[in-house]
Amino acid sequence: MPDPAQAPVLFFDSGVGGLSILGPARALMPAMPVVYAADNAGFPYGLKTDAEINGRVPALLGRLVERYRPRIAVIACNTASTIALAAVRAALDIPVVGTVPAIKPAALASRSRVIGVLGTDATVRQRYVDNLAAEHGADCTVLRHGSAALVAYAEARLRGAPADPAVPADALAGLIDQPGGERMDQVVLACTHFPLVQDELRAAAPHPMTFLDGGAGIARRIAYLNGEAPWPDAAPEGIAVFTRLDESVDALRPALTGFGIGRIEGL
Ligand code: DGL
Repeated sequence: MPDPAQAPVLFFDSGVGGLSILGPARALMPAMPVVYAADNAGFPYGLKTDAEINGRVPALLGRLVERYRPRIAVIACNTASTIALAAVRAALDIPVVGTVPAIKPAALASRSRVIGVLGTDATVRQRYVDNLAAEHGADCTVLRHGSAALVAYAEARLRGAPADPAVPADALAGLIDQPGGERMDQVVLACTHFPLVQDELRAAAPHPMTFLDGGAGIARRIAYLNGEAPWPDAAPEGIAVFTRLDESVDALRPALTGFGIGRIEGL
């Protein structure tokens, strides 16, 4: 019978974006055993149809849960969560935490009543986002922009590629150039890749704006769902599992080490 304290928390994304969710979770629960799963064979999710995401994500999560027996699964991806969260919950018999755009805190904090949602193309077109905007930001102008280029950029930066300020600047311009954009004071980072390049986004901002993401809230949610279940005395070496093992995975080793992940496996 395996030691229940060793049961990991599973983080799932299409690529490295979920590391922005793993980071705050490790900070809050330093002894947490971690399995980080990246569906890099399916990357990028943001350019897929809803049917493709629904056909892929619940089945993959099912295989991962069977192999690693996690205590909790975290869909550390806005695209997968806004499309497939209900299907994943239906497929798994463990608690599932989703990552959805932080529109509520953005609307609460906005003074100008113009907020931006920067995500993937797939996320920004979701009814899930319409509903969040209607529920929490009914008196706000909610600008949306999808940037596949910024997702690819975050992937490249974690593999050591040089900075290119034009990429974050273009992504922000996708919001700012819309009517009302010059008054936008809150930007929801509605793709988990984007907090990884948040400093660069901040540097590219032509006027003051606050960037928000769900990382800290998800960390608290994991702690809450874990309740009194024990953690090991110290975190074991984290595992990263990729749906395709290739040289671009090797280039991630230094970044993964920074998140306590030393072992790389294929699914
Ligand atoms: N990190 C993902 C998200 O939060 C998706 C990036 C992609 O694969 O397009 O939406």
